[in-house]
Amino acid sequence: MIANYENFEKDLIFNDSPDFKNLVNFDSNLSKPYHRWYKFKEGFASKLVERILYDCEVETGAEVIDCFCGSGTSVLTCQQNQINSTGVEINPFLRFLSYVKTRHYFEPEEIKSSIEKILEGKNGNSCIPPNLDTFKLGFSKSRFKALLKYKGKILGNGFSEDSRNILLLGLGAILEDASKLRKDGKALRIVENKKRVHLKKLFSQKLNQIYGDISNFPHDPDFVPEIYEKSSIDLSFLKRDKYKLALFSPPYLNTFDYLEVYKMELWMLDFISSHSQRNELREKTVRSHISVPLDLVNLYENKFLDFIVENLKEKGTWDSRIPTLIKCYFEDMYQVIDGIYKILENDGHCVIVVGNSSYANIPIPTDSILAKIGKDVGFDIKEIKIARHTRRSSQQYPQAKKNGMRYLRESIVILKK
Ligand SMILES: C[S@@+](CC[C@H](N)C(=O)[O-])C[C@H]1O[C@@H](n2cnc3c(N)ncnc32)[C@H](O)[C@@H]1O
Repeated sequence: MIANYENFEKDLIFNDSPDFKNLVNFDSNLSKPYHRWYKFKEGFASKLVERILYDCEVETGAEVIDCFCGSGTSVLTCQQNQINSTGVEINPFLRFLSYVKTRHYFEPEEIKSSIEKILEGKNGNSCIPPNLDTFKLGFSKSRFKALLKYKGKILGNGFSEDSRNILLLGLGAILEDASKLRKDGKALRIVENKKRVHLKKLFSQKLNQIYGDISNFPHDPDFVPEIYEKSSIDLSFLKRDKYKLALFSPPYLNTFDYLEVYKMELWMLDFISSHSQRNELREKTVRSHISVPLDLVNLYENKFLDFIVENLKEKGTWDSRIPTLIKCYFEDMYQVIDGIYKILENDGHCVIVVGNSSYANIPIPTDSILAKIGKDVGFDIKEIKIARHTRRSSQQYPQAKKNGMRYLRESIVILKK
């Protein structure tokens, strides 16, 4: 079994890169202006973006794209380093988050007075509650009512678009802390005895943090990124040969559904108002989770992948759809990487931050499979930097298991056109 893995990876260059270990998570962003507005657990560090910009010699005048823009770490960091950039993101709340973080606000004083208006005085009229049971579970009736009154006041006050966006983002950013829930891996879970926070204080702190960043660290209006709410599986809407660097972290192959984990924000801010609308959106996401139809077109053939999938079928997985899911994931990623190749300029880099997975103790080396997909569409594979190993093997484990564990890693795949 392991011989197949070794054979598949024999022509790849792996470099242990412990200096990247703390750059493949969002933690360090939480103390940084703009980045800190919303705690996004699945992001990478702005320092990682700076490091890649430097390594790939991206300078002012060049164009960068992040086609899984998420909370906007790449586009925001590019902007802060005077680099033009473009983001593509399918989740409308996350696209909104990236958008609001990266605008240049021409009238911060107007935003300040809108914030004061919201926080002072009487509550506004309430608005129609989103039709999602999670809110009943996650909030007391009075807290939910208070949130809806804030929302009603934001929408009913005739604020400018900039102010309205800031206020709505502020409201979205406090939902988790204001609730009895916690984002826990792939789900929202009730936290028994969660400390109850004072809603107005929470909202006020968040809005003042946002206003503070806008007034103290205004963005350069010349480097405001374009952010599309679209699927990266088809990037043909973007100009060919334009970008010097594509830097992105796709959903990992770990059955994490971003529309599920971020549902409070999506429904509260009216990005989703029905389950059918949610389902339509889900179908456009990269198939990294099982809540979507898994129809294969067999666009991408890879014998090593077939070998893994056959083994999984034989061994059995916690859900029988997992082997097909894996094929679908790489089929989607094949289309993404092919699209990226077309929009990069010659000599441009494609840098992919990704974590590997394991099902039924069978490792899926997503990093090396994505690197090989890169090669298949025309890229040169430069190297795979191993930022960290995600599981340590213990003395107790049998050798076979230990062998498999070396494939469980979080990596940075570097391709060049
Ligand atoms: C790992 S996160 C990216 C995080 C980002 N690097 C950051 O620092 O915030 C992956 C993102 O891919 C998005 N996504 C999933 N399917 C997509 C698709 N088909 N097109 C564009 N974005 C997609 C998810 O909504 C999620 O925001």
